[in-house]
Amino acid sequence: MRRVVCPGSFDPVTNGHLDIVTRAARLYDEVVVAVLRNPNKTPMFSVDERVEMLRAVTKDLDNVSVVKFDGLIVDFCKANEISAIVKGLRAVSDFDYELQMAQMNYNQAGVETLFISTNPLYAFLSSSLVKDFAKYGGDVASLVPGPVLDRLTVRSADS
Ligand code: PNS
Repeated sequence: MRRVVCPGSFDPVTNGHLDIVTRAARLYDEVVVAVLRNPNKTPMFSVDERVEMLRAVTKDLDNVSVVKFDGLIVDFCKANEISAIVKGLRAVSDFDYELQMAQMNYNQAGVETLFISTNPLYAFLSSSLVKDFAKYGGDVASLVPGPVLDRLTVRSADS
C-alpha cells in the first residue's frame, strides 16, 4: 500500500491544491489530505470548515481522505504509516522554504518529500491572494471550486 499525505493549511482549498491532490491520487494507492495549523498565518476559515470544503471537493476521488491534525507532520506520518509527503511547487520562491522543511522532516524522521510541479495555469495562485481578491469584490470564480466560492463570498461579505 503506497500511502502519502498532502499537508497544508488549505485556507481555503484552491484549484491549484485540487490539481495536486488529483494528480497524487493517480500516482499512489491512498492520499490523505491533512489540514494543519500554520502558526505563521491567521486563518479565515476554521479547521473544521476547511476540512468540510476539502471533503466536498474531493468526494469523487475514491482514494482520497481528509483529516485535521495539530502537531508535527512527521508525527502524523508515523502514526498513519505514511512514508512520504507530497507537495506542489509553484515557483522558485516556494523552493527555499519547502526544501528546508523537506530536509528537516527527513533529518528528524526519515520522511521523504516529493514535489509535483504545479500546473502553469495555477502557478500564480495562492489561498492568500484568493482571499484578498474576494474580500475586495474581485472575481475568483475560476480559481476555486464551486463550494469554496460560495463560502468565500459569504465570509468576505461578513468581514
Ligand atoms: O499550506 P501551507 O500553510 O503552506 O502548509 C504548511 C504546513 C501546514 C504544511 C507546514 O507548516 C507544516 O507542516 N506544519 C505542521 C507542523 C510541522 O510539522 N512543522 C515543521 C515543518 S518542517
